[in-house]
Amino acid sequence: MGSPSSLSLVLLFVLLVSLGVAVQHCHGGETSSFVRKVEKSIDMPLDSDVFRVPAGYNAPQQVHITQGDLNGRAVIVSWVTQDEPGSSEVLYGTSEKKLKFSTKGKVTHYTYYNYTSGFIHHCTLRNLKHDTKYYYKIGIGYTTRQFSFTTPPKVGPDVPYTFGLIGDLGQTYDSNQTLTHYEKNPVKGQTVLFVGDLCYADTYPNHNNVRWDTWGRFVERCTAYQPWIWTTGNHEIDFAPEIGETVPFKPFTHRYHVPYRASGSTAPFWYSIKRASAHIIVLASYSAYGKYTPQYNWLEAEFPKVNRTETPWLIVLMHSPWYNSYNYHYMEGESMRVMYEPWFVKYKVDVVFAGHVHAYERSERVSNVAYNIVNGLCMPVPDPSAPVYITIGDGGNIEGLANNMTQPQPKYSAYREASFGHATFDIKNKTHAYYAWHRNQDGYAVEADKMWFFNRFWNAKDEQSHSS
Ligand SMILES: [Fe+2]
Repeated sequence: MGSPSSLSLVLLFVLLVSLGVAVQHCHGGETSSFVRKVEKSIDMPLDSDVFRVPAGYNAPQQVHITQGDLNGRAVIVSWVTQDEPGSSEVLYGTSEKKLKFSTKGKVTHYTYYNYTSGFIHHCTLRNLKHDTKYYYKIGIGYTTRQFSFTTPPKVGPDVPYTFGLIGDLGQTYDSNQTLTHYEKNPVKGQTVLFVGDLCYADTYPNHNNVRWDTWGRFVERCTAYQPWIWTTGNHEIDFAPEIGETVPFKPFTHRYHVPYRASGSTAPFWYSIKRASAHIIVLASYSAYGKYTPQYNWLEAEFPKVNRTETPWLIVLMHSPWYNSYNYHYMEGESMRVMYEPWFVKYKVDVVFAGHVHAYERSERVSNVAYNIVNGLCMPVPDPSAPVYITIGDGGNIEGLANNMTQPQPKYSAYREASFGHATFDIKNKTHAYYAWHRNQDGYAVEADKMWFFNRFWNAKDEQSHSS
């Protein structure tokens, strides 16, 4: 004992330990000090008021709208009638009292194990005027119901527009709080960008599809009045060969239509739309995305079509995040990141919204595209051409919060917090957008995380971010 060699080993050990401590303290981001009370997230019971079936024979229910074309002059109206097919016609117009126009849609239904759906209607209203309030009536023949929506302004570079961000919503008491906070937010979202995982019916025995119906009725108070732009998550796959259900996305594709053909896509899981001053690309984490696949070929052709002079803001939606520092779904998005991240940097995507992880996180602008197997360059680095990655899978579903984070917080992670909530992305003009995240425990106007976005094409300066 006490030999020079063992002494140097001890010294080396002390040095390594202190280096380790130093590295642990050398992180740039912020982990919120807000600690949410630990409670179980439970689904609202079937007799909850939010699931109530509208009164009247064969009354249309689960009404929802989404953009129906590339530029925002069409709207897809969807609803379900339970007793009989009824009519797929929509009456609509700009006067509440006199609906001058009508269009006929189509009706479909499906079975899933021992469940048979109601009659699902989809009807596309086309050639609408921009920036105009329309009223529409459905359920023609028996019980009618009337709703309204406002079309977006004509696509253009300096058109202000406000998007809401919601992910992984489910149908718990927390989900209801999230939706209420979105509705009561003084910053009024005009369209929801939904990043996947809708109803979590697949958490029930045999994927009890009744929970697709209850979810449709729960969110109707918002989805009937403003478009929700749909992204598919893992809870939409509904692949269950053990009960004979071998067609992936069967309930989702019957119930939720998207305008994928308008952007040259061949499947409803990846597509793009232009809305006001934004070009929005929706990607599919659970459809093939490797080289030569339909999604890869489509995205390769899509990026060069983005015209930042027409739509300065380039937003990408996906379900599984690429940059996530929680110990949930860690690195699940990695293979898609490896495939597509160089394009995101090359084409200067402004922001990427993802869900899947049931918590909130915002990244710095970083990229990790230098690695080529042999050079060892495999760490994220600051990159002004890279997007900000935001995980917003905190809608409040039955699986509960992700509150176990990787430690230390990686440098690329700017802010993270295990709370339920929603966000708004408020485009002011072609250079500036104001982003804010709201946690459900706060008052409706409180911003728990916020950031001024500077457009990557027109104003690629450093942004200062603030959290509180
Ligand atoms: Fe998910």
